[in-house]
Amino acid sequence: MTEICIIGTGYVGLVTGACLEHLRHKVACVDKHKSKVAELRQGNCPIHEQGLERLLQKAQKLEFTTNLKQAASQSEIIFICVGTPEKEDGDADLSHVFEVCEQISAHIDGKTVVIKSTLPITAIPDVRKILDSNSLSYDLVSNPEFLSQGTAVKDFLEPDRIVIGSDSDKGFDSVASLFQEIDAPVIKTDIASAIMIKYASNAFLATKVSFVNSIARLCEKVGANINDVANGMGYDKRIGKLFLKAGVGFGGSCFPKDTRALVKTGSKLGVELEILKAVDGVNTFQRQLVIEKLKRHLGDLDGKQVSLLGLSYKPGTDDLREAPALYLARDLLNLNTRINAFDPIIKQVDGFDGKLAVKEEAYQAVKDADAIIFVTEHPEFSLLDFARIKELAKGNIIIDGRNFLNGSKLKEAGFIYEGIGI
Ligand code: UDX
Repeated sequence: MTEICIIGTGYVGLVTGACLEHLRHKVACVDKHKSKVAELRQGNCPIHEQGLERLLQKAQKLEFTTNLKQAASQSEIIFICVGTPEKEDGDADLSHVFEVCEQISAHIDGKTVVIKSTLPITAIPDVRKILDSNSLSYDLVSNPEFLSQGTAVKDFLEPDRIVIGSDSDKGFDSVASLFQEIDAPVIKTDIASAIMIKYASNAFLATKVSFVNSIARLCEKVGANINDVANGMGYDKRIGKLFLKAGVGFGGSCFPKDTRALVKTGSKLGVELEILKAVDGVNTFQRQLVIEKLKRHLGDLDGKQVSLLGLSYKPGTDDLREAPALYLARDLLNLNTRINAFDPIIKQVDGFDGKLAVKEEAYQAVKDADAIIFVTEHPEFSLLDFARIKELAKGNIIIDGRNFLNGSKLKEAGFIYEGIGI
């Protein structure tokens, strides 16, 4: 058993802490927000993650505290899991990481400091400089996370691989020992390569999505069906079936941020990552494509009423970060369109000057709608009573932003059904 300190109890920190305790280590999770620590101490799980609440409830050696110094002092390994949100200019905001490094720099003698937060490779010298400020001896390790929201606990305990980047065997060994019970390949490399594996993996997955979205646009012009095309491509083991679903584009706290951060890092170093700039551009255009479809059917959108069904960036989560639905809402409101929305998990959305009304149920959201856009492929949407929807809505246009509805059945029911590339 190793004594571990997890700094940051957001999505990554909380899953990491709970899973490492599940692997029989002693874990202290630190957060600077007293209210968050209080909630966690009461066993309340702030994020919607399958299996996480159960891990928190059955944990025996998992504590939550605001006392970073004490937690760091009593631990052998310190994980930095604080957020690195995107700044306006596309750079990662590293202030939380640097703040934590300053706070722990006097408590790391003989310890291993693990960077789990996603931060640009170019930031490592700055991290080291802060950690070195007390001239203590420590090992620095990068152990990037590959957690997908909705399956984060499973992704942690049953990973495709564990990546550990370190410039010392001691640092590598101390982190590798934490995962002994996990049956997965362990990739031993240096810190820069470990971080690059994380960024490049996310950027490649985002590239697959934007690639299939580009092909989907061409499919629409030539009468091909992107679902069949992607299916046919996916049998090639070199391509694989996953991340070839066309739609309204990718969202979330990772793909958009990590892809743009990689472009930013490249530009700073004179390496223009043109492919990734195009990935971001295609992703942005997908939202415009949906608006164009609406205009094709409704003409001028001024004064029209549109329903957005599904707000989160993907099913199984309440996360609105970079959610395509919010971009669509903003664009539609800028065109003076009235919007009603529904999401099975999200019951309110801040901002939009109250013009984005989130209804209690889907049928309320579609009432008097000129058109309905399905933005998130929540499974329950397939079970809706579409005859009732046809009665409630004013128009009969359905745009399936995730190509997950049964288009032929909806057309038979009298809807004008449009997908993306189908
Ligand atoms: C992603 C990576 O999968 C994960 O490994 C990394 O650690 C964090 O970022 P996540 O953002 O949680 O995970 O969700 P993911 O399931 O990857 O989907 C990301 C976005 O891409 C979603 O908006 C999803 O709708 C979209 N997507 C995904 C597609 O549009 N098409 C696809 O085929 C797959």
